[in-house]
Amino acid sequence: MAINRKIQTLDEFTIQQMRDFPNATGELSGLLRDIGLAAKRVNVEVNKAGLVDILGDAGTMNVQGEEVKKLDIFANNQFMGVLQHGISCAGIGSEELDDIVIFDDEISNKSKYVCLFDPLDGSSNIDVNVSIGTIFSVFRRVTELGKPATKADFLQKGIHQVAAGYVIFGSSTMLVYATKRGVNGFTLDQSIGEFTLSHPDIKCPETGKIYSVNHGNFFKYEQHVQKYITACQNKNKDNGGPYTQRYIGSMVADVHRNLIKGGIFMYPGTTDKPKGKLRLLYECNPFAYIVEMAGGLATNGNQRILEIEPTEIHQRTPMFIGSKLMMEEFANTK
Ligand code: AHG
Ligand code: MN
Ligand code: MN
Repeated sequence: MAINRKIQTLDEFTIQQMRDFPNATGELSGLLRDIGLAAKRVNVEVNKAGLVDILGDAGTMNVQGEEVKKLDIFANNQFMGVLQHGISCAGIGSEELDDIVIFDDEISNKSKYVCLFDPLDGSSNIDVNVSIGTIFSVFRRVTELGKPATKADFLQKGIHQVAAGYVIFGSSTMLVYATKRGVNGFTLDQSIGEFTLSHPDIKCPETGKIYSVNHGNFFKYEQHVQKYITACQNKNKDNGGPYTQRYIGSMVADVHRNLIKGGIFMYPGTTDKPKGKLRLLYECNPFAYIVEMAGGLATNGNQRILEIEPTEIHQRTPMFIGSKLMMEEFANTK
């Protein structure tokens, strides 16, 4: 069967975009290629997750006598390894690592970028064959090139991201990433092992009918959040209520759906955890960047996520994100 040459691969797309910038060094395209490569390796393992009973549980030996790692550790090691051996990344931060890792070798010290990621988001869904994902955020270094990166390179406000994206391991595997030039989605064509452009120039619908929140925590939310959720259930809403509630428990899948279809996703603070659960640097910032670049909004309830000054790698924040008009409606219920 001949390949449809109308297809554009992730590599071709990023290189073509770079050509418009004569001073570009190609490092960002290289970084995205590395992330795509790690995503393909993780995809293979995710597809085998259901075989865990045959291949052995985490911590035990598999049939080849290798130790089986939990999938989130496996994903972490793939992303870290690929970025460490590429030429574009000076260091990483990850949900699975207590502290940042500075690569500190001759090539990496000259690299322009640092990367933060949640290697496997929604990991409680692995056992039940529900969509999971990877989230990543890219900053240009603020420290001098040629020297090792430092924490200051990672603790930048989200507005300074140069790229952010996610991979969703769903009924098909997709990589979606945003730069200031827009948001584009690539679907993994398993037959040729390439991410190919399938969702060019993604725009988040201005409004929608989906709200996504963990209803079980309703009575732990602040009053204005409860008021908004109740408003979502109102059948007399101006725009044809009640809204539909959808919540998978994998933020990647929940926000991806709302980005494409229109909707609002909330992970509010609760009485016992006022900062909520989600992490600013590798869950909220990347999604806030993607959704804002697609025309939506993201806040912590008071402030734009992208303007929060980070103080720690693993800090948490409440998060409200989605279609512009629904986010305005939420702000107005305060
Ligand atoms: P992770 O698997 O990386 O720890 O993240 C899970 C997160 C996020 O994906 C999801 O939206 C949220 O946890 C669900 O939490 P609740 O079960 O508290 O609703
Ligand atoms: Mn996560
Ligand atoms: Mn995770």
